[in-house]
Amino acid sequence: MQIKFYQEEEQVPLEMHKVRVVQKLFLRPVEERLQCIKEAGNNTFLLQNKDVFMDMITDSGVNAMSDNQVAAMSIADDSYAGSETCNRLIKALEDVFGTKYFLPAHQGRACENILAETFVKPGQFTLMNYHFTTTKAHVTRMGGSVIELVRPEGLIPDSDDPFKGNFDIPRMKQIIKELGAKNIAFVRIEAGTNLIGGQPVSLENMLEVAQICKENGIMSILDASLLQDNLYFMKMREPMCKDMSIKDIMHKLGKTMDIIYFSARKLSFSRGGAIISNNEDFILKMKEFIPLYEGFLTYGGMEVRSMEAMAVGLRETLDFEYISQGPQFIQYLVNELDKYGIPVVKPAGGLGAHINAGAIVPHVPQSQYPAAAFATALYIVSGVRGMERGTLSEQRNPDGSERYADMELVRLAMPRRVFTLSQVKYCADRVKWLYDNRELIGGLKWEDEPKVLRFFFGRLQPIGDWQEKLAAKFREDFGDSL
Ligand code: F0G
Repeated sequence: MQIKFYQEEEQVPLEMHKVRVVQKLFLRPVEERLQCIKEAGNNTFLLQNKDVFMDMITDSGVNAMSDNQVAAMSIADDSYAGSETCNRLIKALEDVFGTKYFLPAHQGRACENILAETFVKPGQFTLMNYHFTTTKAHVTRMGGSVIELVRPEGLIPDSDDPFKGNFDIPRMKQIIKELGAKNIAFVRIEAGTNLIGGQPVSLENMLEVAQICKENGIMSILDASLLQDNLYFMKMREPMCKDMSIKDIMHKLGKTMDIIYFSARKLSFSRGGAIISNNEDFILKMKEFIPLYEGFLTYGGMEVRSMEAMAVGLRETLDFEYISQGPQFIQYLVNELDKYGIPVVKPAGGLGAHINAGAIVPHVPQSQYPAAAFATALYIVSGVRGMERGTLSEQRNPDGSERYADMELVRLAMPRRVFTLSQVKYCADRVKWLYDNRELIGGLKWEDEPKVLRFFFGRLQPIGDWQEKLAAKFREDFGDSL
């Protein structure tokens, strides 16, 4: 629970942990930041971390581990086969999710590769509340396609809907009827729906989706990568979860879903990936791919020390105090931005704050990647590295035309337990300055556009000299401050 401060107007989230290891940060002057983003091809993924002050590009593999996780790493059993570490991880998964079978993979997308390769046949459909970049890439690589079934409310950036990641149930039933169950490879439920702002899915909705799958003989798959924040929201916002413990909820999901997979870079604050199930047949179908693509069945490409950290991290997910920190810090940042009048996805979800860049720079057309442009501008004026989650993160249509994103967002991910509140305040302050100078932001165009997952390594150029003007205005307003 959030701790109340005595002075009514001074409510802030209080960290229920202390920092015992630190990493020095560098904040370069604005002129150097301008140079750095140019060298990075105007792609925040290509910036060097030494040039970044607050790295908010992701919360994947960058959360602060607990002392118990670090301690557990030192007892890792480094054997190829029959490792005790693997046994401990299987036991943790069983305790936390109530699932019997486990397949290891080196990270979340490796699980997706195996799921797609095993279950998606050319011409088949997969139904999801919303796609995720790597998931869609794997499904389409196998000749399948993705149909998104998030309720229309999920795509309204500013609302008070508590579960914007929920499936549109009537539409789901309709689509199954239209397509026929045999043409549907699986239904994938993404907890904490990433691309629409880390928005949660209610337990009730998840269970209903799984029930419809069961009735129609379709496989239900839960992507639990962002389940941790989702659990927080279930506990805070959903009447049916009020009297359930975190463990009750996780066991319910473990029992109901045909398959659960997750990126351990997110769930469990470690590194790696896992596919779990109570259905032996499904597991046997996928099993042969693990030694082929990942590694032997006891580690699947994961480093044993990470597996120990994962086992401990999973158990720590049951601690409500631990899992509250992320959503509470995100809420704080969203509140600050909202207070400043900056369009931001509301209500605050998990993962991070999502700035509605499309609404801030309506003068930049979608063909000039407004969210990507905003992300470069934010880096220039703050050293904060965010991530574009808009048209640039989409794949082009098969005919080569641009697929314009539903929302042009810039995500400021909140690595858990990494930043202090004053750093978060600094971030909000610089976004405010950029917002007040938003008319200076211009568009971007391609210099080098990769065919697959272009947002990772594509290089772009600003259209005109708007970035120089932005940096000059920053210098004018901030004097000799960094
Ligand atoms: N599913 C979801 C919902 C994710 O958010 C991610 C990763 C994956 C699958 C893939 O997992 O990275 O371990 O291969 N999201 C990261 C992010 C990359 O920054 O949001 P992975």
